[in-house]
Amino acid sequence: MEKKGLSVGVDLGTSNLLIYVEGKGTMFNEPSFIAIDKATRKVICVGHEAARLQGKNHEKFDVVCPLQGGVISDIELIREILIFTLDKIFSSEVHNIGKLLICTPADITATEKEAIIRLGHSLGIENTVTQQEIKAAAMGTGVDIFEPKGHMVMDIGGGTTDLGILSLGDVVLSKSIKIAGDFFDRQIIDHVKTKHKLEIGFQTAEEVKILLSSLTGPYPVDEDFQPLFYEAMGRDLVSGLPQSVKLDTKEIREILLACFDPIKSVLLGTLEETPPELAGDLVDTGIHLTGGGSQILGLREYIEDIAKVPVYLSEAPLTAVVDGCKKLLKMTSKYFYSEV
Ligand SMILES: Nc1ncnc2c1ncn2[C@@H]1O[C@H](COP(=O)(O)OP(=O)(O)OP(=O)(O)O)[C@@H](O)[C@H]1O
Ligand SMILES: [Mg+2]
Repeated sequence: MEKKGLSVGVDLGTSNLLIYVEGKGTMFNEPSFIAIDKATRKVICVGHEAARLQGKNHEKFDVVCPLQGGVISDIELIREILIFTLDKIFSSEVHNIGKLLICTPADITATEKEAIIRLGHSLGIENTVTQQEIKAAAMGTGVDIFEPKGHMVMDIGGGTTDLGILSLGDVVLSKSIKIAGDFFDRQIIDHVKTKHKLEIGFQTAEEVKILLSSLTGPYPVDEDFQPLFYEAMGRDLVSGLPQSVKLDTKEIREILLACFDPIKSVLLGTLEETPPELAGDLVDTGIHLTGGGSQILGLREYIEDIAKVPVYLSEAPLTAVVDGCKKLLKMTSKYFYSEV
């Protein structure tokens, strides 16, 4: 009798790569970075190890992120990162994968989708399928997308903010905008450059954002309820010397509010385009927020104020997509679901 093989689900995010293996759980959850030997083009490391090398310009290797702005920018690198991580998880048993489900951004082209399916085939996995990540995120956060009601999910990741209206197991409407975590970081870098004449790195901007960000309500405070600050180290643009600047929660909120203006427009546009029956359902079902960016303080209230419907934060925003993969892989035998 033919061996069935294990089912594997992949959340190929701009910032984080997560891999679920049937019966074993989430076996990989690390940054989507890959370090490659410049001379031999061989993979040196991926994930945390590669992320640590990022920004350290080294003559021997390149550190790259194969997804930029939620776009599959380099399929060869995605292949390399998958081979490396699957080898790590399965040792020599990669051939034991019976089904591969890869979650993709909402606005993927047919050519990109074909390239992903071919990638699975090239790994020897004939049964390779794709699914929209917004659908997986909805399922992962506990939304019953199969009921005859409209649901809305908003996923704020590293490369894109994706919005989707789902009903009867399908994505009825979806929109994607390239304004998310990485963009927020770049805006913080630009602000510090313009206002404080200091050049800071991407990792510093990321730490500033995670510690100080908020959109509405009280500003974040420390454990003694004192205002939070971040001493950002960088290079003084005038003197060229190492220098630091104290950043506060007010200036970071201003930057984020400006970043969220276009997200607000896309949200309003999506609500306008939602068929009336499903739009009416949202009064009950609300909007579910997922993705790393959904952890910004005050975001729930900010979205509630715009959409005037209840807004729910995911309990596990960073794993919602891969948690949804797990559910989708289990359901395929019980339910018919259409692939994107
Ligand atoms: N507490 C936090 N506050 C604000 N942003 C955060 C927080 N924690 C993580 N992030 C941001 O979330 C982003 C990563 O989220 P996530 O892992 O959902 O993205 P991704 O799935 O890799 O990207 P995409 O779905 O766009 O391809 C990063 O930009 C990170 O800085
Ligand atoms: Mg994502």
